[in-house]
Amino acid sequence: MKNIALILLLALSTLCAQEEKVLPKPNLDRGDSVMRAFSQRSSTKSFSVRKPTIQDISDLLYAANGVNRPESGKRTAPSALNRQDIKIYVCMEEGAYLYNAKRHSLELISKSDLRQSQAPICLVLVSDYNDKWSGLDAGIVSQNISIFCAGTGLGTYPHTTMDKSALISGLKLSGSQTPMICNSVGYAK
Ligand SMILES: Cc1cc2nc3c(=O)[nH]c(=O)nc-3n(C[C@H](O)[C@H](O)[C@H](O)COP(=O)(O)O)c2cc1C
Repeated sequence: MKNIALILLLALSTLCAQEEKVLPKPNLDRGDSVMRAFSQRSSTKSFSVRKPTIQDISDLLYAANGVNRPESGKRTAPSALNRQDIKIYVCMEEGAYLYNAKRHSLELISKSDLRQSQAPICLVLVSDYNDKWSGLDAGIVSQNISIFCAGTGLGTYPHTTMDKSALISGLKLSGSQTPMICNSVGYAK
């Protein structure tokens, strides 16, 4: 009996491992100075086919809303009442993932292409709420993404134009979760 339980546990952990991609450590030495990044910030709306690397994705997500103080679990983006309500869904051609900031990993949500533009990556910022604070919290994460991209040679633009109902069903969002804004990300054409 004990053996069967062990085999089941092993099978389950293998299954879970397949559904989660642990990201490389963020590179904290990367990028231009903050002031240079501000001087470069602009919306990029035309993207090359060049795909961001896994390190780009790791750094991008850390900058967007990663855990920068593991002792308290607090994040690179502030949030009203420290609700940490903004979830980042990473939509790529091969599928959509939920960023797990605590584990700095990607959890597979769907194998469908749910991107909302021609960019290789669309970061869909979803709030757990739909109240006066959720738009502010999403805006701050979106700006973290813009400044990261400006300082590292990536391109992005924020957009509220998106197929919300396709995202709600494709990303399996619960009734209280709201797609607030999307940042398309890639290298400029
Ligand atoms: C809240 C918000 C929503 C936006 N929505 C869209 C959008 O739906 N489609 C789009 O092409 N650009 C969108 N943009 C990008 C703006 O068009 C862009 O920021 C503006 O033209 C200024 O250009 P810049 O970002 O290069 O300074 C949005 C920007 C913000 C801040």
